Amino acid sequence: MHSRPKPDGIQLKTPDEIEAMRVAGQQAASVLAMLREHVRPGITTGELDAIAHAYIVDELNGIPAPLNYRGFPKSICTSVNHVVCHGIPGDRVLKDGDIVNIDVTVIQDGWHGDTSKMFYVGEPSIKARRICEVAHQAMVIGIEAVRPGVTLGDIGHLIQRYVEGQRCSVVREYCGHGIGRVFHEPPQVLHYGRPGDGVVLEPGMTFTIEPMVNLGKPGTRLLADGWTVLTRDRSLSAQWEHTMAVIDDGVDVLTRLPDDPL
Ligand code: MF3
Ligand code: CO
Ligand code: CO
Repeated sequence: MHSRPKPDGIQLKTPDEIEAMRVAGQQAASVLAMLREHVRPGITTGELDAIAHAYIVDELNGIPAPLNYRGFPKSICTSVNHVVCHGIPGDRVLKDGDIVNIDVTVIQDGWHGDTSKMFYVGEPSIKARRICEVAHQAMVIGIEAVRPGVTLGDIGHLIQRYVEGQRCSVVREYCGHGIGRVFHEPPQVLHYGRPGDGVVLEPGMTFTIEPMVNLGKPGTRLLADGWTVLTRDRSLSAQWEHTMAVIDDGVDVLTRLPDDPL
């Protein structure tokens, strides 16, 4: 068996294909777990990238999907403080009080696993802790609503309602995505929306939920490097991401390690 395309371009995966994606997903999650002890004041984002690259290639025998993806120059994304997403690892030294999103995508046996988490560098401020917690809960609310028959608009609406109820904002320009043999495939998974709108979920769909949540206004700005996305108002931003499959009785989070919380 092999994945079947739906007319809307969504590739439904078979149970065997979902198991292959779980291998990639667990590997991506293991990279974040491995990196945790390295995220300390004084390390550079480029050093984190080098550690992740070596681990993915040498220990996992995998491929870091971001490297050379549409010209992206590094193996992970590192997005610090008011960087919304797609931060390029480099010479930036992490300092006490920073928050950093590390986004890892591993290709294993042709399948992608994509996940990200926020990390505290030393002791976070109250504001920094709050934006990380609101973004995390936004992702959890989205994941917990996933099951056959629910629409993507339902999911986006639940995330948006929660985030705005916390007087934070949802970034509009970037979204979650279908994933499989292709890194970014249909459908687009918006983190805002209206109940009942959009694609109806069915078993075999695989996609990410990865809300980007700002402490201030939702607007973003793209740096001249063509990748780094900032909050327009320079407020703090946070993001969490999991890859999941829709199954008959709900959702199977492929990038959740055993005994880990979402
Ligand atoms: N991992 C990101 C996502 O969640 C995509 C990064 S694309 C890159 O979709 F080129 F910046 F790596
Ligand atoms: Co993603
Ligand atoms: Co990602």
